Amino acid sequence: MSVATETKLRTENIKPKIGSRVLNSKEELLSGELAAELRDLIEQRGVLVFPKIDFTEDEQIAFTKTLGNYAPENPDGSVSKITLDVKENPSAAEYLKGSLYWHIDGTRNDVPILASLLTCKVPSPKGTGNTGFSNTYAAYDDLSDEQKAEYDDLKVLHAPWASLFYYEPEPGLAKLKGMQAIGEKVLPLVWEHKSGRKSLVLGCTSHHVLDVPYGKSAEIIHGLREWATGPDFTYSHEWEAGDLVMWDNTGTMHRAEWYDPECGRMMLRTKLEGEEPWAE
Ligand code: OGA
Ligand code: MN
Repeated sequence: MSVATETKLRTENIKPKIGSRVLNSKEELLSGELAAELRDLIEQRGVLVFPKIDFTEDEQIAFTKTLGNYAPENPDGSVSKITLDVKENPSAAEYLKGSLYWHIDGTRNDVPILASLLTCKVPSPKGTGNTGFSNTYAAYDDLSDEQKAEYDDLKVLHAPWASLFYYEPEPGLAKLKGMQAIGEKVLPLVWEHKSGRKSLVLGCTSHHVLDVPYGKSAEIIHGLREWATGPDFTYSHEWEAGDLVMWDNTGTMHRAEWYDPECGRMMLRTKLEGEEPWAE
């Protein structure tokens, strides 16, 4: 007689307000049996780490598909290479320079991607190239009632061209216009999700808060970013080859920490299609 065995999710918290390690095997993860629980968990914890799970490219895609709709970034459906090395990824390397600063992926899309999954193929030397994550649900929750009331209805203009100035303070006009052509979008500073939970929408694409004096706008954007990226709400992942890290792009910010573009660091990314448009 066969006994049906139920696959149990096995996790441990990394920090009280952000991050869980998932300890299940590759086979358990690929079975899809844990998908619903993993989706709940990522929304609660912001970041899930699957230490040395060692997915092949096909397995990473298959795992991504168990969790929602795979949003391929390449026309052939393959995983995308994330590296600042121009020899490996000439078109993306320039744009990825902005990823060294706190950001949310796809702020110019009507429906931001739900989550990204990053596998480390080749880590950078220790002490460089960690990926930092900030839980922007938790950062909002811990604001005072006065702060929440002040921020709840504000809107911010987000634009990739705003992030250009972080890594190139004096761009030429052609480059500026090239980045401007990517688009811009007004987003709520506080995103009230369909679930009723609220998260902060910040990062290096934030240009200014609408209808507020410039100085005040800068105080809000940079003050809240400082708050949300303080020690309580952040986790910095030091990569080992084979690690997979997945983050809820709708309730976190992330950034690559500095690494030498020629050190060989190579990450492979898949994305899950967004399911909820930005709130008005
Ligand atoms: C990304 C990203 C950070 C990193 O893939 O969207 O920002 O550490 N990556 O490579
Ligand atoms: Mn990113």
